[in-house]
Amino acid sequence: MTQPQWSLVDEYFGTLFAPADAQLENALKATAEADMPAIQVSANQGKLLYLLARLCNAQSILEVGTLGGYSTIWLARALPVDGKLITLEISPEHAAVATRNIAQANLASLVTIRVGPATDSLKDLISQNAGPFDFIFIDADKANTPSYIESALRLARPGSLIVVDNVVRNGAVVEAESTDPNVQGIRASLAILASNPRLESVAWQVVGSKGYDGLAMALVLE
Ligand SMILES: C[S@@+](CC[C@H](N)C(=O)[O-])C[C@H]1O[C@@H](n2cnc3c(N)ncnc32)[C@H](O)[C@@H]1O
Repeated sequence: MTQPQWSLVDEYFGTLFAPADAQLENALKATAEADMPAIQVSANQGKLLYLLARLCNAQSILEVGTLGGYSTIWLARALPVDGKLITLEISPEHAAVATRNIAQANLASLVTIRVGPATDSLKDLISQNAGPFDFIFIDADKANTPSYIESALRLARPGSLIVVDNVVRNGAVVEAESTDPNVQGIRASLAILASNPRLESVAWQVVGSKGYDGLAMALVLE
């Protein structure tokens, strides 16, 4: 199996289950035109996030890592009209593009973008008692992901779902001695997800249009 085959199958599944619409296409186009990296989730992954948020009956969603708002749009579409989504982004340029894309998708009333290092924004959210969030999607700098998970736990409730993206690192996640801070960040994150008694977790490998990658998911128990 090779990348072209994975992409073809992803496209086929995407056509069936996550067909592009004008708003999602606009978000991708505007992100590319702003010279931002194409590191958003794939259409099928976006649909998976949407379905998971629906399954949680999420009224409140927290996202760490906005980019151009592509995953934000998928997630916000899972919310009821009085729901809320807070998304954290360090780059003012990314946040500006995301703000336009989210408005264009008619979701501005549900979504707030907080600009700044996510560690600081999460501290603020905790001190402001902004939780609990029903669904938390972590998709920013991998080295800081362990601290994002610890903060997420303080912003969650029993029954919340935490999803962490990009946990395979092209297979390097198995390299305990890796000097790559992203690999070590993900390894430390998985260790928390596996050992924290408040969590019941799983991680799995994925192939598709984005190559070889994976997701981890944790249910907050208490
Ligand atoms: C993989 S992209 C997010 C993709 C987005 N979730 C999607 O699928 O459409 C990661 C984003 O995290 C942001 N980021 C990186 N480090 C950050 C930090 N310390 N705090 C907040 N955001 C950060 C980057 O600027 C980038 O926009």
